[in-house]
Order: sequence, then structure tokens, then C-alpha cells
Amino acid sequence: MKGIIFNVLEDMIVQQCGMAVWNDLLAKHAPEDRVYISAKNYPENELFAIVTEVAIMLNLPIQDVIKAFGQFLFSGLAANHTKVVERFADFTSLVMGIHNIIHVEVNKLYHEPALPTIISTMLDSNNIELKYHSPRKLCFCAEGLIFGAADYYHQQISIKHDTCMHHGAEQCILNIELKHD
Ligand code: HEM
Ligand code: ZN
Repeated sequence: MKGIIFNVLEDMIVQQCGMAVWNDLLAKHAPEDRVYISAKNYPENELFAIVTEVAIMLNLPIQDVIKAFGQFLFSGLAANHTKVVERFADFTSLVMGIHNIIHVEVNKLYHEPALPTIISTMLDSNNIELKYHSPRKLCFCAEGLIFGAADYYHQQISIKHDTCMHHGAEQCILNIELKHD
């Protein structure tokens, strides 16, 4: 897991719970003197341990915390990779470009990133089907990232996530509906 993911997690926890809480979490779940450098790799177990404890602290299901983090993460990634995100004029084109454009760029910018397989298909002008597969099973993070992208483009959406790897499916299917008022 790339350091940038931990850096954005730190920003979110410091913003919402304060620096003392982050320092405590780090002391408990990471080796001594851990400093996350954005382009370096760190064990994903550290991220899962931190997020699990946040969920216990807040008395929330872990998936809710991962989803909230995903939503926060989008703006963190966008801020660090403005050139990549600026290529997309709207929400739909960004979602259609996750796998073949965004994560392809990520592969050039980072050494051996651990990326999911994402296949986005336009079903009709208001519905996108996104198939997600990854050994890390971070589909709730993907869901949050999509909501973060929707915030970024001021696009109202809803997501159905009926088929899920956490319920034994081979891959997750996220049905994104664009809302217009
Ligand atoms: C990792 C999905 C946009 C850069 C991930 C992961 C997910 C994901 C779920 C976690 C790894 C896994 O599941 O195996 C998405 C979705 C996006 C999106 C759904 C849009 C809605 C972006 C953007 C950037 C980006 C805009 C930056 C330009 C990265 C990076 C990682 C990552 C750096 C970490 C790789 C690692 O830890 O080794 N993405 N992503 N993603 N993504 Fe994306
Ligand atoms: Zn899922």
C-alpha cells in the first residue's frame, strides 16, 4: 500500500479526531518511528489495523469507515495528481477512465502499485456498471472514491452494490446511477 494512501488517512484522522489520536493509532499499529513517504510501499495490514481501531472508537461498521475514507481519499489523490484528474471534463468520463487512463498513469508514476481491476461499462446515459476485483477486497473504498469523484464534479449519484466479494462473489458489481434534479 502506497504511502500516499496513509498520508491522506492521516489528514482525515487529524482533521476529524486530532493529532493525539493519530499519534496513538500509529504507536499501536505501526513500527516505531514510522514515517509514510508517498511513493514507498508499506504493509496494508497497518492500514487495516488503523481503520479497524477507528471503527471500534466510533462504534461504526468497518465498511462504513473504509467508505468514508474512500470519499475523503478522492480529493487527496486529485490534489496530488491534478494533471491526471484535469483530463476529465465530467464525472462520467472520469469513471469510464479509471482503469485504462488513471490507473495506467499511476503505474507510470509509482513503482509497482497494488491496483484493482476495474471494468466500467456505460449501460445507458444515466447508468454505469463498474466491476471491481482485487485481492485486497477494498470495494467499499472504491464506492467511497466514486462518491468523492461525484462531489468533485457536483454530480448527484446513487450506488447499488448488490454483488460483493465480501459475500462470496468472484467480483463486485457497482451500479452507479446519475441523478438529475
Ligand atoms: C488504489 C479505485 C481514482 C490513484 C486504488 C484502490 C481502489 C481504487 C479501490 C485500492 C487498491 C485495491 O482495491 O486493490 C479507484 C476509483 C477511482 C480512483 C474507484 C475513481 C473514482 C484514482 C485517482 C488516482 C488514483 C484519481 C490518482 C491519480 C491510486 C493510487 C492507489 C490506488 C496511487 C494506491 C496503489 C497502492 O497502494 O499501491 N484505487 N481509484 N486512483 N489508486 Fe485509484
Ligand atoms: Zn463489494
